[in-house]
Amino acid sequence: MNGGARLAGEVRVVGAKNSVLKLMAAALLAEGTTTLTNCPEILDVPLMADVLCSLGCEVDVQASTVTIVAPATLRNEADYRSVSRLRASVCVLGPLVARCRRAVVPLPGGDAIGSRPLDMHANGLRKLGAHTEISHGRVVADAEDLHGAQIWLDFPSVGATENILMAAVLADGTTVIDNAAREPEIVDLCTMLQQMGAKIEGSGTSTLTVHGVTALQPTEHRVIGDRIVGATWAFAAVMTRGEITVQGVDPHHIDLVLDKLRSAGADVSTAIDGFSVAMRGRAEAVDFVTLPYPGFATDLQPMAIALSAVAEGTSMITENVFEARFRFVDEMVRLGADARTDGHHAVVRGVERLSSAPVWASDIRAGAGLVLAGLCADGTTEVWDVEHIDRGYPRFVENLRALGADVARVAAEPER
Ligand code: EPZ
Repeated sequence: MNGGARLAGEVRVVGAKNSVLKLMAAALLAEGTTTLTNCPEILDVPLMADVLCSLGCEVDVQASTVTIVAPATLRNEADYRSVSRLRASVCVLGPLVARCRRAVVPLPGGDAIGSRPLDMHANGLRKLGAHTEISHGRVVADAEDLHGAQIWLDFPSVGATENILMAAVLADGTTVIDNAAREPEIVDLCTMLQQMGAKIEGSGTSTLTVHGVTALQPTEHRVIGDRIVGATWAFAAVMTRGEITVQGVDPHHIDLVLDKLRSAGADVSTAIDGFSVAMRGRAEAVDFVTLPYPGFATDLQPMAIALSAVAEGTSMITENVFEARFRFVDEMVRLGADARTDGHHAVVRGVERLSSAPVWASDIRAGAGLVLAGLCADGTTEVWDVEHIDRGYPRFVENLRALGADVARVAAEPER
């Protein structure tokens, strides 16, 4: 891409990656056909479909609709190759324990942003009566008697909350998950489970109470809009001093983000199903602290760093969720950013203009952050390993071009 363009126009955001993948896993909980609409056309959806097929489902992915036919009897061992390609597939653990009373799921392992252990998932399943072992690269859970329990999470982990919730809905008795995650994607999952007949109280709060039932029914569900993708477009408007209207996202899911952008000098207006962000001049530096929802999302940390790199003044960015998520900063420095990290703090002094360079995307959000930074650099920036971006941002290049960016996808990859 060539930097310098002011992005302007409208962009429609579709369903959330971090919701649709869990909703696909939740379809395992009921024999029959579950249909998901407003699904994002991203690489992760067919990867998740492969995992469900390895468990005996039939899955049809047609544009923004995913149809899952779950059989009466599921296989309880997920395929290693499919799981190893998609970290999120660990969320089949809870549904398999619930339906089969046994689950064998390969460990997805860590990635560019952290070690990502599964201890809270395992401890929660143990509390529900599942004998759970993590060994030989797999999580093996056996539950002759799956029963309700009081569970406190050490940290409001999204994944652990989802797995425990999806096991508890078919357990005998009542489960209380305290310090549960409160992300909008958790609420979306609770809504779909309730449509399937689950009895859940406290959706969106840090205490979830689940009254187990004996069976669930398949359903049809519309996936919520992707707040992380929506917010990424908001940062793009501010960084390029542009004006973008985003549709398809509930602005209340990113209240704090929009407030931060107002503090940076942006004009922000909201509507029921979207928002607009306009930036007249150069952004003011603001500080960011990543926290579980409703705090500032760690998935937007690379966008916060990219914005701070071109803002007027010095910003402090604190990462409290993933221990290795500042790896991205090295690539920003290649683009001329004045940024330093120390433990879970990064200090970024804004520069008037970044300078173009070839850079590498280490994960989905880092990739998007580097593209936004490249749009603010003089010269031609090349972002490599962009398949990371395709895993989370549908039609990213097409949307950027429609907003006026001078960007193109090139096939070839240089030797690193
Ligand atoms: C989900 O990951 C998202 N992924 C992540 O988005 C997101 O960053 C994260 O939630 C936090 O919001 C999906 O939904 C597919 P966690 P998850 O369990 O569930 C530690 C993206 O770019 N932890 O809330 O894996 C963990 O290591 C991705 O879209 C344990 O120590 O996140 C981390 O430091 C990246 N033990 C923290 O908790 C456990 O058993 C939060 O992890 C579980 C988690």
